[in-house]
Amino acid sequence: MIRRPALRRAPPVTAEREGSMEQKVAIVTGGAGGLGSAICRKFSTRGAAVAVADINQEAAEQLAQSVASDGGKAIAVQVEVTDEMSVTSAVRTVVSHLGRVDFLVHCAGTNIKAPILDMSLDQWNISLEAHLTGAFLFCREAGRQMVEQGDGGSVVLMSSVTATAPVPERGAYGPAKAALINFAGQLGLEWARYGINVNAVCPGVALTPMTEMVYSREPELREQRLKRFPIKREVLPEEVADLVLFLCSKEARYINGVGIPIDGGFLNSGFYQDPES
Ligand SMILES: NC(=O)c1ccc[n+]([C@@H]2O[C@H](COP(=O)([O-])OP(=O)(O)OC[C@H]3O[C@@H](n4cnc5c(N)ncnc54)[C@H](O)[C@@H]3O)[C@@H](O)[C@H]2O)c1
Repeated sequence: MIRRPALRRAPPVTAEREGSMEQKVAIVTGGAGGLGSAICRKFSTRGAAVAVADINQEAAEQLAQSVASDGGKAIAVQVEVTDEMSVTSAVRTVVSHLGRVDFLVHCAGTNIKAPILDMSLDQWNISLEAHLTGAFLFCREAGRQMVEQGDGGSVVLMSSVTATAPVPERGAYGPAKAALINFAGQLGLEWARYGINVNAVCPGVALTPMTEMVYSREPELREQRLKRFPIKREVLPEEVADLVLFLCSKEARYINGVGIPIDGGFLNSGFYQDPES
């Protein structure tokens, strides 16, 4: 069991938590992916050191080098987010190289296509484990570190609009994303006393490698979907990163335990009619 400091009031917002994130350390799981890499770059722009935590070591190394060549500080950490030992070791590696953990963004995930009637237990488990079990394992390890440090922090879990608007034939994805919002609420309750806020963000569709893989299987899907987006475009990874960074900033310190859509009006579009159709 880890030794926890006595229960205390959340720390006051100090000058060092305002504005710049210099001296702070962020872990981004799935950090080498489309959304993850935009989030890593944004943290670096704000002065934080970044751990690109991903199963794809080559892509993680490339991103860490690119961040470093832009003047930032980044390390690549290979991790399988569903594996307890791998996650424990990844967080230890981050602390031994970068000294601490202030922010955790859990972005690793998969998008398996299968309607429930045809879904294997393996497919169900893979989805739940990457999104939800991965969040549990990483939050527990990084959370223990943040609590031990004693000066707060922020966690952001990458949910999706599919948490409330399920996608046909992706029967394990939406339930996993919905669970992440509940899990952010759970942690928000348990960790507010330590000055750690925990939230989920729920993007609509972003053009990342994951989405490109989906569209390559179903080319007509993009046009169909965009008809339901009043804003008529996908969200940019940088826009999702802006929201994540905001939730990690002192301006967001009172936002805790919620899932926040960033969807261009999609979830509100039940009665929407595309003017061009
Ligand atoms: N792209 C979208 O439109 C969209 C919308 C809403 C939510 N999301 C969510 O955002 C997150 C990132 O999506 P993306 O579009 O950037 O996908 P992506 O495929 O570009 O990136 C996912 C990253 O996660 C890593 N990863 C996958 N499984 C892993 C595991 N078990 N352990 C460690 N790393 C693992 C991959 O190597 C990859 O780098 C996912 O959780 C996804 O569900 C994406």
